[in-house]
Amino acid sequence: MLALERLTGFVESVRKDVAAARARDPATRDVGAVQILISYAGVQALFMHRVSHALNDQGVPVLPRLLSYGARIATGVEIHPAAEIGSCCFIDHGSGVVIGETAIVGDCVTLYQGVTLGGTGFQTGKRHPTLEKNVTVGSGAKLLGPITVGHGSKVGANTVVIHDVPPNTTVVGNPGHPVRVEGKKPEGPDTDWIHLPDPVAEALKKLSERVASLEDVVEEITGRKQEPAEVKELHRKKGPSPAGG
Ligand SMILES: CC(C)(COP(=O)(O)OP(=O)(O)OC[C@H]1O[C@@H](n2cnc3c(N)ncnc32)[C@H](O)[C@@H]1OP(=O)(O)O)[C@@H](O)C(=O)NCCC(=O)NCCS
Repeated sequence: MLALERLTGFVESVRKDVAAARARDPATRDVGAVQILISYAGVQALFMHRVSHALNDQGVPVLPRLLSYGARIATGVEIHPAAEIGSCCFIDHGSGVVIGETAIVGDCVTLYQGVTLGGTGFQTGKRHPTLEKNVTVGSGAKLLGPITVGHGSKVGANTVVIHDVPPNTTVVGNPGHPVRVEGKKPEGPDTDWIHLPDPVAEALKKLSERVASLEDVVEEITGRKQEPAEVKELHRKKGPSPAGG
């Protein structure tokens, strides 16, 4: 009876994963459930993980790790059998996703290719991130350590997150910093991550001002006009910072 319940639960979670792929990938518009199951690496990786996780929970030796390794070869997604993954999750494209042993991924989370939910070093115990429900993590993002990403938050592509992220917040850049909280730009003196002070440009500006005033003094003493030096004024570049943000 218990085995039947487990099997039904397993089939239901795979059905939800396929539905999640269909809901969140516009390319699946005309694709049937079976085709998604046999040709979507992210869906297959979750399928394999759900089997290896169940076996791992039962204390079955070796096999869960072998399944996880097989899934990695077939899909490019490496999920430790002990990692907890909620329902309706979607891993788009698959390749390069790594989910560590103590990671917890809530319901309806979306991960793009190249996402790492990893540890920061050689610690033991809980050392991987927890993602609450409805979190989206962009391609190439690295989430490191036992941090929590609050529900509904978005992590931009290539972001590196090493601190907790509050719910409904968008973080981007390296280190990841909030650019939207509840849909609004954060306010306050420490929130402008894009227009960071540039100490080198400030120093050059001061230096060229000093040279100009010294030239005035020399001109006064000698009576000879100095040729103006070709010092271009420094302007901040507009647009997003190349450091992210
Ligand atoms: C972060 C993201 C989820 C957008 O979230 P959002 O809450 O809608 O935020 P916005 O688009 O309004 O962007 C907020 C700010 O972050 C900046 N930003 C967005 N994504 C960024 C990124 N990956 N890196 C750096 N800055 C980014 C925007 O330019 C904007 O800056 P502004 O405040 O100066 O206007 C999205 O940009 C992203 O990275 N998605 C991942 C998609 C992906 O990986 N696709 C792969 C498909 S194969």
